[in-house]
Amino acid sequence: MKLLSTLLLSPLVASAISFDYPISSDATTLDANFPVPGSQPLNYCKDPKDYILEVHNVDLTPNPPVPGEKLTIKANGTFSEEIEEGATVFLQVRYGLITLIKQEADMCEQLPKIDIECPIKKGYMEISKEVNIPRQVPPGKYTVLADVNTKDKRAITCMEATIVFPR
Ligand SMILES: *[C@@H]1O[C@H](CO)[C@@H](O)[C@H](O)[C@H]1NC(C)=O
Repeated sequence: MKLLSTLLLSPLVASAISFDYPISSDATTLDANFPVPGSQPLNYCKDPKDYILEVHNVDLTPNPPVPGEKLTIKANGTFSEEIEEGATVFLQVRYGLITLIKQEADMCEQLPKIDIECPIKKGYMEISKEVNIPRQVPPGKYTVLADVNTKDKRAITCMEATIVFPR
């Protein structure tokens, strides 16, 4: 299920990767009006114009992810300011109506898992990451929400996704 988490992985949400659960979005906040550019099921939580991270592109290959196969995630984006220690990632993962994860993590502690360190410099960044998706992902609908904020609670980015693994 690490893969799902990886979806969120734009440099921004990189920390989501560390969670060993599938990703999904919070259906109550899902807003298909603001899709994240690229081939994946991500949507911004709201109009991203004020987000510190401007995402240029996030691609998943294959899209959608296939259980038992390798998933490649490529993402790039531009940070409008340096991101310092103290930034947080709130991650919520639901499987159907069940909440699998609902927790806030220190972003800088999670980033080394995708080979990034804090502080994140202002400017352009790109990442590429391969993950193995377990063969036995329980079929069903997964929703993931990742909300990333600076230490003083300004939005770096917020994304959500719904992924269905068919039976
Ligand atoms: C971001 O990645 C996409 C897809 O690989 C590429 O087309 C685009 O030029 C990149 N953006 C920048 C600013 O480099």
